[in-house]
This record gives sequence, structure tokens and C-alpha cells, in this order.
Amino acid sequence: MKGKFQKPRGTQDILPLEQKYWFWIEDNFRAVMTAAGFGRIIFPTFEDTALFSRSVGEETDIVAKEMYTFADRGKNSLTLRPEGTAGVARAYIENGMHKEPQPVKLYYFGPMFRYDRPQAGRYREFYQGGAELFGEEDPIVDAQMIAVMIKFYKKLGLKNLVVQINSIGDAKGRPKLEKALVDFLSAHRRQLSAESKRRLAKNPLRVLDSKEKEDQAIADEAGGVLLDNLSKESKTYFTKVLEYLDDMGVKYELNPRLVRGLDYYTHTVFEIIDASTGLALGGGGRYDGLMKILGGPDTPAVGWALGVERTIDCLKKQKVDVPEGPSVDVFVIQLGDEAKKKAIRVIDELDEAGYSVGHALGRDSIKAQLRVADRNQARLAVILGEREVHDKSAIIRDLSDGSQESVADKSLSAAVGRKLKEKKK
Ligand code: HAM
Repeated sequence: MKGKFQKPRGTQDILPLEQKYWFWIEDNFRAVMTAAGFGRIIFPTFEDTALFSRSVGEETDIVAKEMYTFADRGKNSLTLRPEGTAGVARAYIENGMHKEPQPVKLYYFGPMFRYDRPQAGRYREFYQGGAELFGEEDPIVDAQMIAVMIKFYKKLGLKNLVVQINSIGDAKGRPKLEKALVDFLSAHRRQLSAESKRRLAKNPLRVLDSKEKEDQAIADEAGGVLLDNLSKESKTYFTKVLEYLDDMGVKYELNPRLVRGLDYYTHTVFEIIDASTGLALGGGGRYDGLMKILGGPDTPAVGWALGVERTIDCLKKQKVDVPEGPSVDVFVIQLGDEAKKKAIRVIDELDEAGYSVGHALGRDSIKAQLRVADRNQARLAVILGEREVHDKSAIIRDLSDGSQESVADKSLSAAVGRKLKEKKK
């Protein structure tokens, strides 16, 4: 290939000036999840392909169309993780976590990969923050999981978000539910889109999810069919989830068409939608059957994941005042050979005093060094010239207003500390 390389379609370079959003999300995510009693898990970015096809489901878009699957040199079929739940569930089983006191509560933050059609809010490599809770089956746990997610979004400073919620019943009731749906949809088969006709045969629940115009009216009605055919137990479970959400002060909208694009769900499913774009920032639900499918002990579970890039888009659109990321406290500027040597000692001293110190020791002109300081968003500069070497002193310059003062070497770090404190006020 000739010419310059470009990043693969649907991926991103996230440069330093953009990082404040990432820090804001990561820091708040870690704080909220830790406070809620979740422990962090790091797990592989690739797994056996069969793990995903079995958990997410052969007929889902993710498995059928969107996986990055490859054979490694040992001829094993591996797949870059398109989502986190399957890997975390595998880790729970493999590490014998079912023997620990339940519930086991885990959270994660990292990249996922889907061969999706790139467009607004859709990437081929994107980050998710996710949470999974294992070993408890109680409607209050479903409600709590939703409440934690909302807490996180409130902490970020986002508004105008809507929780949509639905129930797709438990595994026992699924055959009856599917039969009712198939009966209803078959009666209207002629009006359905080609894709929905295909789904009707393979995975009828997903017809409710259709974005095709001609399906809308029927899919709306099918939502009602779903709700009417929930088993008594599932209805009671769902009603309790909603009651607990009311008690917790979490607002929600019922969306009878919400079925989610992954096969492992049972009972409660939910999404959090940015009302201004209609895009889902995150979603999740209960998945009581997955552990057994993966060969583990029968363990109820519930979880969710949120998209980091979509959340950042939302922060920008709502003009949330996100704190600046870590920046350089003080930038050391040197002029002349002797000053360069002195700069090495000064950098060490300021570093040891606990400041973040920038420099461009390879540059000689003051202008060039100030430009780097500016790019680094440095707050102060320490300037060392020949005179300062001779006088055992340094100039401290406030980079926002240009004011300067000269201080003796021995009081330099104390003076830098004082200046930084003054600026914070
Ligand atoms: P999901 O709905 O497929 O669920 O993904 C969760 C979130 O990831 C979405 O709401 C969206 O914000 C983000 N997302 C998905 N695809 C893309 C993409 N191509 N580009 C950018 N962002 C994207 C899951 O992944 C489940 N594992 C959630 C879960 C956890 N359920 C139970 N536990």
C-alpha cells in the first residue's frame, strides 16, 4: 500500500485535549460503582468464538453480522469481544465465584468491537462501562441496578434522559409468549418487511425491534400481545420492579416493544435513552438462563452496559461543564547551556515536591518553549537564564496574566506552591 496510513473505519484516535471527558466518565464511574459495592474485573478482549454465539445468540445481528472473528496460529476460532456480559459470566464460572458469598457484583470499563455500520454514535471499536450482579433473583435487585445507572448519569451532570423498561418473561413462559406472537404476526405476515418475515421464523421477539416503516403499526400491537401473554409470575415480578423504582424515585416509561438485541435476557429489560436524539446510551436486563447455557451452576444475574462515546456526545451536546483533565502545574524554561543543566535539577526538585512538571529541554528559544507550555495548558512557568544561574534564583511567571517574580533557588518550590494555591482561589 502506498501513501499514508489511516485508522480503520469506525475507530477513533482520542487525543489529549479530548481526555477530560474520558477522565470525567472513568473517575465518576469508578466512584459510583465502588460506592455501590461493585468490584472491578478485567477480562480478555478476545474469547472463544463459541462463547459469544452461545450467549448472545446465533440469530442476533451481533453474532450473525458484526463479530470480528479470526483463527489464531493454533487454528482456534477467536472473536474480539462484541460485549462484556459473556466474558464476565465465563470468568464467574471459571473462577468458581459461585462458591463465594452471593451476590457477586462486578464492574468493567473497556473496549468492545462490532462490525457495525459507522454513523453517529456507532463505532467499530467503542468503550463500554458495564456492571453485572450474580446470585440474586429479586425484583428489588433489578430496580437497584437501574437506580445505580441513573445515579451515575446524574453525577455526570446529564439531563433529559429517559429510562424505558419492559418485561419479556422468564424461560418457562417463553414458548407460550412466542407462540402468541407468531400467531399474531403470521396473521399480518403480508404487511411485514422482508427482514421481519425472516425474524418471524427465526426469532419472533425481534420483530418488535424493527425500525422498518412498514412494520411499525404491527410491531406496536405486537407489544401489547407480549404484555398480555406474560405468565402470572412474570407479571407479578415486573409489577414489583416498577413499584420499587417508584419507591426509589426513578422515573421510567413502559415500552412494550423493547426486547433488546441479545438473546440471553429474561424478565426485565431496559434502556436509557437520550431524549433529544432517541439514541440508547446504555441498556441491560436480567439474564437468569445464561449461566446454565455456559455450563455453569444455575445462577440468576442482572446487568447493564453503557456506551462511553455516546455518553460523551451527550455531555458535549448538553454543554456540561466538565472539569479540565490533569494539566501541567509548572513548565520549566531554560535559556543557555548552564541554565539547561540547572533545569535538570529544578525539574527533579519540583517533581519531588509533588507538582506535575513540563519542559522542552531540546528547544532553545523561549518562544518555542512557551508555545509547548501553552499546548500543555501549564499554569506557571519557571524561567532560568544565565543571570538566574549566576544569582542562584529563578523567575516564576504566571502564564495566564504574564506577571513575574524572581525568587531564590532555595525558596522556589515553596513559592511555586504558594502561586498555584493563589491561582486556585
Ligand atoms: P448493548 O445494548 O448491545 O448491550 O450495548 C450497550 C451500549 O453500548 C449501547 O446502549 C450503546 O451505548 C453502546 N454501543 C453498542 N454498540 C455500539 C457501537 N457500535 N458504537 C458505539 N456504542 C455502542 C450490551 O452490550 C449488553 N452486554 C449489556 C448488558 C450487560 N446486559 C446485561 N449485562
